[in-house]
Amino acid sequence: MKASFLPRPAVIREIIQQNAYIRTFRLELIDKTRPFTFLPGQFVMLSVPHLGEAAISLSSSPTALPLFDLSIRRAGSLTEAVHTMATGDQVGIRGPFGRAFPVEHFAGRDLLVVAGGIGLAPLKGVIDYCLYHQELGDDPVSGMTLLYGSRTPRDIAFQETLSSWQARGVDCRLTVDRAGDEWQGAVGLVTELLDNCTVTENTTALICGPPIMIRFVIAKLVSRGCGDKNIITTLERHMKCGMGICGHCHLDGKLVCVDGPVFTLAQLKKMDVMELG
Ligand SMILES: Cc1cc2nc3c(=O)[nH]c(=O)nc-3n(C[C@H](O)[C@H](O)[C@H](O)COP(=O)(O)OP(=O)(O)OC[C@H]3O[C@@H](n4cnc5c(N)ncnc54)[C@H](O)[C@@H]3O)c2cc1C
Ligand code: FES
Repeated sequence: MKASFLPRPAVIREIIQQNAYIRTFRLELIDKTRPFTFLPGQFVMLSVPHLGEAAISLSSSPTALPLFDLSIRRAGSLTEAVHTMATGDQVGIRGPFGRAFPVEHFAGRDLLVVAGGIGLAPLKGVIDYCLYHQELGDDPVSGMTLLYGSRTPRDIAFQETLSSWQARGVDCRLTVDRAGDEWQGAVGLVTELLDNCTVTENTTALICGPPIMIRFVIAKLVSRGCGDKNIITTLERHMKCGMGICGHCHLDGKLVCVDGPVFTLAQLKKMDVMELG
């Protein structure tokens, strides 16, 4: 059987509770004889015997290999099962698959990262990757701003990571849809945070979150003059093979698993993408 159909066993080295329903699983492949590397934005097919597979984004930077992170929201049977696992348990991994964010073009650009909920997972790898290279003085981006929206303060995931990014120079701005008196920060949609951001021709915007959020963020960025090639987002489709064979993730002539999941707005405009229309 082709190697990419066979899951490779990976051991859970660490589990980080992000909020009540998202956990980050820090994994390491057991067999190191075959290479494993990836770029931010790519995903793996995660499997548990007898339960099947699900597509999950790599949420760490490849610079942290051989350890790599999957940040998983409890959504259904497979992700529920993974949430019951402990360090030392094993899962199966196929991949990496899909097109990554074009990190090779980010040097000198102002990155504007806009995320909602678990949508921060694939973008976290981009920020970690850029910070790593920034701190080496190696093709640094010009600046990084993160706009991150959550439903309530208790839903904010990656809190330790957010503090560490802020300390390392990322301008992190949070908002929640609703909050009690204890919350001192912004309340409102993530699009409202965009009103106080500078958008120039040097801005590259990366967006990941629920389809409705993506749609409104894109509309606002376009109205602020951000070019179609500089607006980059991800699409989510149910996947089976993850590698362009089964056609399950077909979308208007494209296969999201190989042509995406990362697309520029210029590419999406050539496709009939209902949720962004
Ligand atoms: C490229 C990519 C990257 C992803 N990255 C992440 C990530 O980093 N973290 C993360 O938590 N999730 C991620 N997901 C989503 C994850 O793959 C799904 O939530 C997956 O369905 C979970 O599997 P499950 O068996 O736990 O839940 P499922 O049993 O698949 O159920 C999850 C939800 O999907 C619905 N559903 C199931 N099958 C279908 C179908 N055929 N059509 C429509 N709806 C269906 C169910 O009703 C339920 O609401 C990603 C998906 C893609 C495509
Ligand atoms: S998931 Fe099989 S072709 Fe995309």
